[in-house]
This record gives sequence, C-alpha cells and structure tokens, in this order.
Amino acid sequence: MKNRFNRLTSKEWLPFQKSWFRYESDEKMLRENIRFFCKAEVVDDVFAYWGKDFKTAKKICDENEIVITPLDDVKTESIQFAVIDARGFIDSVSDKDDYITARKNIVNLAIKVYERIEHKRFLCILIPNRQIDNRYFPFAWDLAKNLSSVFSLKDEKIACTEMETNVQEERLFQPTKQLFYCLYFKKDDMTQGKFIESSVRYFENNKQLSPSSGFQNQIPSWFILKPQPRKKNEILHPAKYPEDLVIMFVSEFTSEGENVFDPMAGTGSTQLGALKLNRNGYGTELSEFFADIALSRCQDFMVAQQENLFAQQKEMSFKILHKDARNISPGDFPAMDYILTSPPYWDMLNMKGAENQAKRLTLGLQTNYSDSDKDLGNIVDYEEFVVSLTEIYFNIIELLKPGGYLTIVVKNIKKKGRNYPFAWDLSNALQERLILLPETFWCQDDISIAPYGYGNTWVSNTFHQYCLNFQKPI
Ligand SMILES: C[S@@+](CC[C@H](N)C(=O)[O-])C[C@H]1O[C@@H](n2cnc3c(N)ncnc32)[C@H](O)[C@@H]1O
Repeated sequence: MKNRFNRLTSKEWLPFQKSWFRYESDEKMLRENIRFFCKAEVVDDVFAYWGKDFKTAKKICDENEIVITPLDDVKTESIQFAVIDARGFIDSVSDKDDYITARKNIVNLAIKVYERIEHKRFLCILIPNRQIDNRYFPFAWDLAKNLSSVFSLKDEKIACTEMETNVQEERLFQPTKQLFYCLYFKKDDMTQGKFIESSVRYFENNKQLSPSSGFQNQIPSWFILKPQPRKKNEILHPAKYPEDLVIMFVSEFTSEGENVFDPMAGTGSTQLGALKLNRNGYGTELSEFFADIALSRCQDFMVAQQENLFAQQKEMSFKILHKDARNISPGDFPAMDYILTSPPYWDMLNMKGAENQAKRLTLGLQTNYSDSDKDLGNIVDYEEFVVSLTEIYFNIIELLKPGGYLTIVVKNIKKKGRNYPFAWDLSNALQERLILLPETFWCQDDISIAPYGYGNTWVSNTFHQYCLNFQKPI
C-alpha cells in the first residue's frame, strides 16, 4: 500500500504504533515523532515546536530536511505537525490556580496551532500528572479533556521512564518511577477550534489521606508482566488479568488475614491471588459459567494447600456468589479491606473484528461474557454504561472499610474513529465519593502489533491498561 502519511517503511511504522514506550531521551522521542508525523517532501509546510529544547528539534529537522519554526514565532507558514512540550509549564506549578494559568497558556498555544495546521495533521502535547504535597493532580487528563473542545483528541502514548519518583512522605501511596503522557490531537471536522471549559471536576476532591498502615511504595508507576500461558479453563474467559498483577496490588494494599473483594470475579483471579497471599477472597460474578470456574479454581488451590504437608496451614476463606453486582447487599459479605476489579470495557467485546475476537472465533471460544441484558458489557450507550458502572462501585464501597483502597483495571477506548477516555471519565465520576490516588500502568509487551491506519493516519495499538487507585475517606 502507498504511504501517503510519512516516509516510513512498515518496519519503522509498526513499533511507533505501540501505545507506550520506554523513554530514553528527549532527542530519541522527538526524532521518532518528527519522522512519523512529518512528510519531508512537503517543502512549504513546517514543523512547529514549543519547549525547552529547540536546538535538538532543529538538529533532527535538519537531518530530515524538514523546516522548523518556534511556535511562538510562527507567522504565515502552514503547519504539518506541532509539539508543545508542556512539562516545563507543569514543573513550576505548585497548586490548582497555578495550573489553571499554565493551562491557559498551553491552550493559547494550541489554538495558534489549530489556526495554521493542515487538515488531518497532528499536535502532540507532552505533559505529566503530578502529586504535589499530599494531593494528586491529573493535569494530563484535565488538559486533554479541556483541549478536546478545540482539537479532536485522538490518542495517547505513555512515556515510561526509569527515573525514580521523589517520595515525599512514606505514609502516602506513591508509585515509584516516573512517567508522562504524550497526548495526540488532530484537526478534523469534529471540532471548530473554540475553547469551551469542560465540566470535569478532577481537582475537587483530591485530598490524599494518611493510611492507617505504612505503605511500602513498591508499585512502580508502570510495569510489564510476563503472564503464564493461560490454562484450559482460563482461556474460556475473554479477558482475565494475570494473578501476578493481583499479587502486586494485594501485597501493597493489604496485610495477611485481611479481606479482598472483586464484584466482577470472572475466572476468580483476584480471589485466587488473595488466597495465595493468605488473604480471604470474596466476590460476585454475573455469569454462572464463569462463577463456577472461579469457585473451582479457588477450591482446587485450597485442597492442594491442605494436602501439602510442607505448607503452613492458615485459616483462609473464600466466597464467590453467582449474582448481579448491582444486587449485592450488606449481609452478603464481611467488611472489606481492599477491592481489586476490572469491568467489561463497555461493549467492545461485541465489536466484530475488535482486538483478538477473530482469533477466538476461529478457536471456537466465547467472544463476550454473556448475552444477558444485566451484563454491563452489553450496554450500547457509553454514558449509560459509565453511570451503571459507577452505581455498582458506589454500592460496593459500602462494604469497604473507611480508609480502605480500591483499584480498577481499565483502558481508554477507541471506537469507530472516536476516543472515549473511559479511565478518566470513570475517575471523574468516582471522585464524588472516593479520593483519587496516582494511577499505575500495566504495559503489555506480549501482543503482536496490528498495522491500523497504515499509510494514511496514526492509530495506536492500546497496550497500556490503567490501574486506577482510590481510597475511601475515613
Ligand atoms: C474484565 S472481566 C473480569 C475478569 C477477571 N478480573 C479475571 O481476571 O478473570 C469482567 C467480568 O464482569 C462480569 N460482569 C458483567 N456484568 C456484571 C454484573 N452486572 N454483575 C457482576 N458481574 C458482571 C462479566 O461476566 C466478566 O466476567
């Protein structure tokens, strides 16, 4: 196929489509972006840059015969790609008001880009979320939401750095290592370049409390797992998470003997992981088929434990009810110390051709969770889906002890050319009753990359899952 978008070969194109990358240097990151988003032979169009390293950007453009201009000095040229490195703005922000001023400056720069950029070309903004004192500010999400009135928000990439987080107070939950977001916007027919303030309330309820027990702060802000090949009964489920993920989070947020809950148990990964760590595992699952698999996996583990003469015998228990999570009542379970869960990702499993659906079909495997209208994965309307899920979480946090933690594994969703920032929308809704803590990313490195949009435009392969962390106020 003819490549009308840039000059890259498919071999160079594909790795860029991964939605996360190991950040090594600004130079490498800029080079990859400039080469991907600029077509060098378009001599009249320029690359516009705003940030602290114009010299490096110029060197890369010179090497690739691309004309560069500083964004604050852009005049009559037409832009084919722009980068705003907003990390410098955020470094000097010390509270919400400072940020709102910084946001105004970033938005003004973006509007300048909008006025000159060619149709269907991209703007990339580099920006981190930040913990300041004991409050968490998801600046990147806020900027993306607000700026999506000006430009179409198309995609995101997570820049995963090896730099350590400066842990300010040991008793706060702070993932180690740092990361930042590369937000990608496109000029298309969906927006008119006018700024309209969004109604999101990310900064309203974000006071982080001191936990009752000390944190180990052992969870990195991004991690890669090497999941074991799934066993026969586990493959039957379309979307389970690995027990290694459960082990990591349950170890951080609970102690031995405590109670762990998952209202959408699937194959019982949360309960099994909890039992392996000498915690109790509880949950519900709508599908009888999967509830049975979850129960038998926990039972098998407990039997093997009892038969193992060398294992220390501990009194652990589990309970998984075949039930709609909407109908959980206070008498069903004891009070919980921690909730770890992952919902259906809207109705994505019903999308023919989505993700690995075709592969499952050829293997004769179930592609969705169920055909029940109570299954959240069968709700077609996005807003209704987010509201229904939020109601379930508000119901189950009644079980959570004050000060207890909740982790939700989710993805932002792309559907029919539109971006639905599900992780951010859910966080926003949950902040009405929960305290938002820093998110961590499960970066998947074991899936083959699909050449979406090859030769025409950029669409990433979403290989990063958000692990959203919250605390119930005391
Ligand atoms: C992403 S999967 C969870 C996978 C699980 N974490 C694992 O590792 O096996 C979501 C699960 O939610 C279940 N589900 C959907 N709607 C539900 C509802 N209303 N109540 C309870 N479970 C529901 C689905 O059957 C599915 O098993």
